[in-house]
Amino acid sequence: MRRGRLISLEGGEGVGKSTQLAALAEALRGRGISVVVTREPGGSQGAEAIRKLLLEGDDTRWNPRAEALLFAAARSDHIETTIKPALGRGEWVLSDRFLDSSLAYQGEAGGLGIDAVRDLHRFGSLDFLPDRTLVLQLAEDEAGARARVRDGHAGDRIGSRPPSYHAAVDAGFRVLAAREPDRVRLVDASGSPATVTARLLYALGDLIG
Ligand code: TYD
Repeated sequence: MRRGRLISLEGGEGVGKSTQLAALAEALRGRGISVVVTREPGGSQGAEAIRKLLLEGDDTRWNPRAEALLFAAARSDHIETTIKPALGRGEWVLSDRFLDSSLAYQGEAGGLGIDAVRDLHRFGSLDFLPDRTLVLQLAEDEAGARARVRDGHAGDRIGSRPPSYHAAVDAGFRVLAAREPDRVRLVDASGSPATVTARLLYALGDLIG
């Protein structure tokens, strides 16, 4: 049996990621692909427990290094107990966020550096990478970003960080796409939901074929 594919969907706050995740899963199923939808932080029993530690409480609950280590620990468990078994069954795994969130949030915006956080992934998960990473992006000014954060997921520890942090996250994703253009693709999140889903499918064209 052919090994499945791991696709991660990324993006800053409020770019319509949840809607697109569901639409993309349906579109892939419509092409006869068996799809497992999962998320980070989380996606396995152990990682969901770590998710609560990461997203609840004060912004200052964890220092930046501890925060990055918790994300890396959750990811290691997610990969071993959920992702690898599904890929082994020939299924596709669609993950709502994955490694590149850690690289953009903790690495770029959090100040640890992209390379340091990638090193954690090398240790924690033997540098296991998605077959493709799709980053939804909206071109806009900081006021727009602020509104998205306010209207979006401002409730959790990380979503409620200031607009400058989220602007750095977006910049981080652009750096990642420039560094690994085969794996990481920026996808324009403007326009109708159906248009955005079509763009996502196009960016997977070579894998679906
Ligand atoms: P979630 O409620 O899943 O929000 P979203 O709909 O934006 O995905 O919360 C996940 C939060 O954790 C989000 O603010 C991004 C952040 N995050 C990191 O900082 N690093 C990571 O490695 C991951 C996976 C998420």
